Amino acid sequence: MCPQSLEYIPLCRPGMLYNRNMYYPRDFLWGAATSSHQVEGYNTNNDWWQWEEQGKTKNPSGAACDHFNRFDEDFQLAASLGHNAHRLSIEWSRIEPKEGEFDRDAIAHYKEVLASLKAKSITPVVTLHHFTNPLWFQYCGGWLNPDNVGLFARYAKEVVNELGEDVCYWITINEPMVYALYSYCEGLWPPGTKSHIKGFRVVNNMIRAHRRAYDCIHEIYRGQQWETPMVGFAKNYRPFLACPEKCNPFGRLSVFCRNSYFNRYYLNNVKSNLDFIGFNYYELEYDSTDPALPYGLFGGNCTHGHKHLDHTNQLGWGMFPEGLTLVLDWLAKYKKPIMITENGTCEIDDTWRQKFIEEHICKIDQAIAKGIPVIGYLYWSLLDNFEWHHGSEIRFGLINVNYETFERTVRPSALHYKAMIEERKGI
Ligand code: FCB
Repeated sequence: MCPQSLEYIPLCRPGMLYNRNMYYPRDFLWGAATSSHQVEGYNTNNDWWQWEEQGKTKNPSGAACDHFNRFDEDFQLAASLGHNAHRLSIEWSRIEPKEGEFDRDAIAHYKEVLASLKAKSITPVVTLHHFTNPLWFQYCGGWLNPDNVGLFARYAKEVVNELGEDVCYWITINEPMVYALYSYCEGLWPPGTKSHIKGFRVVNNMIRAHRRAYDCIHEIYRGQQWETPMVGFAKNYRPFLACPEKCNPFGRLSVFCRNSYFNRYYLNNVKSNLDFIGFNYYELEYDSTDPALPYGLFGGNCTHGHKHLDHTNQLGWGMFPEGLTLVLDWLAKYKKPIMITENGTCEIDDTWRQKFIEEHICKIDQAIAKGIPVIGYLYWSLLDNFEWHHGSEIRFGLINVNYETFERTVRPSALHYKAMIEERKGI
């Protein structure tokens, strides 16, 4: 089931973006990613739904993309776009709506979702926690309470026992550092806490949660005599660089502090419990320690508005494919398979998305040519979706979603991505 063969295929056609001597693994995972709350619709029993009802987001998620009902149609589109992998998340609040009570219908639903992928020869990459928590979990202290690590492990165990037979790749937790930062340090996400100390405690509880889930997934697979799974987490990796304008003498100190904590702390604490490194890459960050910034020596994004960028996306993020090279070079030191579990851009003008995909895949070509063991690339996202506090008008999708009719329209960039996949599969 776990297709990490050592067989490689040559890239057969010479092209502008890669050279003919380069080899991709035959079973390289090409696809896109989504998360339950952002696409399914009506996840009424989690902390985000409550947050939205309190008016804390640009719009509520509501029916989102109605992916809960339209998953099969969406996976058909993914297959038609050449995808052989898809990352999705399981909604904890559906599986365990009340503490300790597992909902059989919800489990049956996700079995159908996996069966639909299997029927289309699409390999699932399954995330157990992607930012949302059941309300009951929040009410008993959420991720601040160290005892709750066991509650997450119990949920993980149930899901893996029920769904594991058809899954090889598990992601325990999506972007723990981002979660702790937004939910507990900056108060931007539920539960809206603003305390760096609490944020640090959450990170440490999530480290324990990953380790527990890792052990428990392996134990289940051994017990069931299923093939050994690949378990990782999805790290938001942000290369920090001192602002090139040297506008602040402590920029390098800020870079050191931010790299040590944001990029390395979690990873170094779970590296003995990782079968692959998953990471989400969007952009790099120029840092400075401008006294106006809230994090002292940790500095922050340089706010001096230098003109390093010819374009920024709907969220104001710049396009830095070189950052992907920095991350891959650095992660190669861990000597583990590497999966790009998210990479994408939100654009009104789709030609920027096409350029983004092309330039980032070009960096993967180069990494593979250097021998870095990249095993997959998952574009964020398959569909336009509910982008957390920014709401639904932020368009990351390979596929446009009309939120009135739920009509799906494949964007030209999705076809460009398909052509790039086919070239690299030797089709
Ligand atoms: C990542 C999240 C994902 C999505 C993208 C744009 O940090 O994991 O859910 O919001 O950003």
